[in-house]
Amino acid sequence: MNASKPKKVVVIGQGYVGLPVAVRAAEVGYEVVGIDIDPRRVESLQAGKSYVEDVSSERLRRVLESQNYRPSSSYEAAEGFDYAVVSVPTPLRETLPDLTFIELSARDLMVHVSPGCTVILESTTYPGTTEELMVPILEEGSGLRAGEDFFVGYSPERIDPGNPSYGFVETPKVVSGINDESLQRVNEFFGSLIETTVPVSGTREAELTKLLENTFRHVNIALVNELAVFAHQLGIDIWEAIDAAASKPFGFMRFTPGPGVGGHCLPVDPSYLSWQVRRRLGQNFRFVELANDVNDQMPSYVVQRATDLLNDACKSVRGASILLVGLSYKKGTGDVRESPALKVASLLLERGANVAGVDPFVDEARWPEGVTRTGLSESSARGWDLAIVITDHDELDLEILTQRGYPVLDTRNVVVGPSVVKL
Ligand SMILES: NC(=O)c1ccc[n+]([C@@H]2O[C@H](COP(=O)([O-])OP(=O)(O)OC[C@H]3O[C@@H](n4cnc5c(N)ncnc54)[C@H](O)[C@@H]3O)[C@@H](O)[C@H]2O)c1
Repeated sequence: MNASKPKKVVVIGQGYVGLPVAVRAAEVGYEVVGIDIDPRRVESLQAGKSYVEDVSSERLRRVLESQNYRPSSSYEAAEGFDYAVVSVPTPLRETLPDLTFIELSARDLMVHVSPGCTVILESTTYPGTTEELMVPILEEGSGLRAGEDFFVGYSPERIDPGNPSYGFVETPKVVSGINDESLQRVNEFFGSLIETTVPVSGTREAELTKLLENTFRHVNIALVNELAVFAHQLGIDIWEAIDAAASKPFGFMRFTPGPGVGGHCLPVDPSYLSWQVRRRLGQNFRFVELANDVNDQMPSYVVQRATDLLNDACKSVRGASILLVGLSYKKGTGDVRESPALKVASLLLERGANVAGVDPFVDEARWPEGVTRTGLSESSARGWDLAIVITDHDELDLEILTQRGYPVLDTRNVVVGPSVVKL
């Protein structure tokens, strides 16, 4: 990078995806503006308080002090940018893709598009979004030609919150552009932030790559979830079978059953793909639909198993004291979006149980309503009719659960003891 004049980077959306990109870009010497429409997030960032586990507050404060990073709620701060990265949400609205956030951010950005700049979409979305939705908005608002006057690309994020081995820098990143010049610029930009880039020939291929990765996980998790239900009925230990199968050095990949899928990606992304297949080709993407069906049923199955365990002890769900261990959708994060724990808690509450929860990662703002917060100390581990291990945070000493003899339903196969029943 030119040491005399750092290039200006604008990262739109300062969430789980955008904040790590912005902080890394500031660390390597770009002049970075992080734009977010949520004023509370901007205030928190300005105060040096990170709400994303992969970016510590200490790191955030360092880039603020270096003056390479500036959080802002105004798109005016985007003026004169060289690179813009768009990492805004792409949720489902009533099971359909909702691209409003991409559209609105492109509309706010378009007046700041100037000759020579590069805009990169990073949000997960269906193939065609970059070229069919984003490019026309940017061209209309700027009066410039994409691919000639300014450049556009797509690069999906693979961030795995809480993963200690593969962070943003170590994880290879797929990059693409709407033409060769665009690809070259997108590749240069991410190449300056991370170790390995993986160029592909077009934006649609890059968009499909992300959906393929998440659909692959979703389908394979559904396979072992359905098998877990059958194996239990057949009296076979699925966990032992999975471990044994994983000893095969080729042709098998280990996936494990659980209480359902959560987070922003798995419950959402495959539906972007099946929606597009239905809309464009008039066909059903049967694997995705089946996987959705199986994975969506898992929280109810957990509640059914919990009911059976209480029944074995001559107890009912109504009035039972039930401890949920781990509320976030995966270990090492406080993210509860679409977490199966929320569905399990609400089903138990509906049936009249007293539900308590342990999760050191989930803050007050995200804590589920109706669930009493407790700790996993020996004293708080007393007196439950049943404990259900939903998320196996490494920080929790789960052996405590086995000391009092109450039944433990372990959906992750992490606790051992005579009172423990595996999913
Ligand atoms: N979280 C993950 O693990 C992950 C991994 C890979 C890809 N993704 C994808 O990345 C995208 C972003 O996900 P996320 O997890 O970072 O979401 P997030 O909700 O954590 O962050 C998105 C941020 O964008 C802001 N925002 C919304 N509209 C805006 C606008 N018009 N202008 C400026 N800011 C705006 C929101 O206030 C929010 O802070 C999604 O498409 C998601 O599917 C997420």
